[in-house]
Amino acid sequence: MAVLPTFDMLLFGGTGDLVTRKLLPALYRRYAAGQVSAESRIYGVARTALTRAEYVAQAEAACKGFLGKEFDAPHWAAFSEILGYFKLDAASEQDYAQLSSALQGREHFVRVFFLSTASNLFAVICQNMARAGVVTPSSRVVLEKPLGHDTVSADLINQQVGAVFTEKQIYRIDHYLGKEAVQNLMALRFGNALFEPLWRRGLIKHVQITVAEELGVERRGQFYDKTGALRDMVQNHLLQLLCIMAMEPPASSDPDAVRDEKLKVLRALRPLHDRDVLTKTVRGQYKAGAVHGVPVPGYLEEADIATDSTTETFAALKVEIDTWRWAGVPFYLRTGKRLQDRLTELVVTFDEVPHPIFEKPQTSNTANELVIRLQPDESITMTILAKNPGEGMRLKPVSLALDLGETFKTRSLDAYERLLMDTVKGNLTLFMRRDELDAAWRWVDPILEGWQHHDDRPKSYIAGSWGPAASSTLIGRDGFSWHDEV
Ligand code: BG6
Repeated sequence: MAVLPTFDMLLFGGTGDLVTRKLLPALYRRYAAGQVSAESRIYGVARTALTRAEYVAQAEAACKGFLGKEFDAPHWAAFSEILGYFKLDAASEQDYAQLSSALQGREHFVRVFFLSTASNLFAVICQNMARAGVVTPSSRVVLEKPLGHDTVSADLINQQVGAVFTEKQIYRIDHYLGKEAVQNLMALRFGNALFEPLWRRGLIKHVQITVAEELGVERRGQFYDKTGALRDMVQNHLLQLLCIMAMEPPASSDPDAVRDEKLKVLRALRPLHDRDVLTKTVRGQYKAGAVHGVPVPGYLEEADIATDSTTETFAALKVEIDTWRWAGVPFYLRTGKRLQDRLTELVVTFDEVPHPIFEKPQTSNTANELVIRLQPDESITMTILAKNPGEGMRLKPVSLALDLGETFKTRSLDAYERLLMDTVKGNLTLFMRRDELDAAWRWVDPILEGWQHHDDRPKSYIAGSWGPAASSTLIGRDGFSWHDEV
């Protein structure tokens, strides 16, 4: 793997969860893989007063925990040489002046500002950096999701950040796009001639996208209680997965060619207005239960959660895409915390044969299915009907299964490893463009309003289940069921 151009990367929110649990381990791995030059610098930036040594010690503890056996002391010692720390109050001009002088003489290197703070700080950070002269022509800013909490707030942030950085310098992160398996979905669709003719109405009956988590809100109660599953997961990760499933083949793999096609899908999503939310969406909130036999508290008992909170920790939606390709094909989306298993899966159910000539199989599931699993393992499974051995022509569903981990026998890059390196390389393909983000919020806003208007309180579900019963009813109304319920 080629060494990347020398860079300075500033991780704002440097003592937070994302930086310590995801970004630093990802950078360490890339360093250990030889991709980061020894002249590059990585700085944690946060309000806490810490010495460099204290920050490096914190980072070491976090990386050790996260990387387990992969942690290697000599590599860490070398990596820690390029780590630094700035104490910075987002609003203090003086602090930015110090930052500026510390970076002096390094203007010719790529500069990446990764803003892993609350999004209401993005504007002030960018403005202050510009004033302090820290923003160079080869600078990039990375904005962590969620960007805003609705269309208006996201637009304002985009405008303010856009006053400092050009669109080509802005990297809006959705880490799902950096997952190897999501790239594989693109490979499957656009690297094989086989699927494209089948990928449409008339041949596909329905599509399901599930992003299920076993985890609860962990240490993020304050953030989560204001956010909820729709904003935290659906507005970004699930809609991006939906785009990749549903988009037209782009003319090339250029960032804008891909993003143009995703945008068309987002703009074609049928709006859910007012009463639609009662029939096409389900909100849920977990109660105490057990996940894999381990008792866990309910959402309302978690730290930093209002005891009467009506924030949803689960959302299921029926989504329709108003295009020639997808008219009449429902896409069912589902995500939640404290569900039975950690599972990210896309299921494409094809139509049944138009005229059966064999005895009906003794299973309710006679349609071909393509199951693309993204997490915890990466696999592609196609169910076909085969003849049951023996007399007669009795058919039975069997699987053509491809385990990608087994096949390639190599650790795939973690999403943040890929995305961080893309920011250094200047590759925008896996980042959201402003118009995409806007289109996603425009579709989500009426759902949030509808829920509020109808006072649609979340239905409770037991931690460790697959969500509220209403989620099965949502899909059951159309005569289908969730893949795990078959
Ligand atoms: C984040 C959400 O974007 O994605 C979290 O804010 C969620 O709530 C996480 O837990 C899930 O990511 P992954 O990669 O673990 O599936």
